[in-house]
Amino acid sequence: SGVRDLAGKRIVISAGGTREPLDPVRFLGNRSSGKQGVALARAAAARGAEVLLVAAHLEVPVPPGMQVREVGTALELADAMREESAGSDAVIMAAAVADYRPAAVAERKIKKDVTGDTLTLELVRNPDILTGLAAGREPGQVVVGFAAETEPDRDRLLQLGREKVARKGADYLVLNTVGWTDGFAQDRNTVIVVSRAGDIVSEAAGSKDQVAHRILDLLS
Ligand code: C5P
Repeated sequence: SGVRDLAGKRIVISAGGTREPLDPVRFLGNRSSGKQGVALARAAAARGAEVLLVAAHLEVPVPPGMQVREVGTALELADAMREESAGSDAVIMAAAVADYRPAAVAERKIKKDVTGDTLTLELVRNPDILTGLAAGREPGQVVVGFAAETEPDRDRLLQLGREKVARKGADYLVLNTVGWTDGFAQDRNTVIVVSRAGDIVSEAAGSKDQVAHRILDLLS
């Protein structure tokens, strides 16, 4: 389209899904492909923004024309976002972050002949990165979060979104439903964006690129 309404803006976007190691060969992960976050990064760069993509195990290639910083775990993502968000105009947390990580990472492979018929994992909470970014927001900086929910009922989905955006303190929360077939790894997406005040500020359905542009319209 050639609209360069984000020229001169620095935008930091996380995408993908974190992985929490259990031992040198295993991890706890999630099904995020990184497609919506990468689409946002591509759309922001096309509109003239200086983009830093913080990439956690993407299943799609990184588009040209942007800086990339690769991370693995939630704690690495937290460090990267804290460092890179400084001085930026907008921060978008599209990555799926593990809520918990193993309390201890085994030095060597966990062996079933040692652990036996059942294995109990102890997990500890990861920090909420989005909450931290919103609490430390710089003047004029816009903080956007995502929420992937399995709630099919629109009113209950909206209620979850309103509670979540208020609790985390983000300026906007992009709500989408995910499940065994929706959302993750798909090329299309349907989202509702709610503001911190709880208003519906945008609704979009289409390709992940189209949805990305509608989300960026809120920043321009
Ligand atoms: O609470 P929930 O995981 O649904 O929140 C999703 C939003 O919060 C996403 O923007 C995600 O990137 C972010 N998040 C985070 N740190 C966590 C968990 C989620 O920043 N530990």
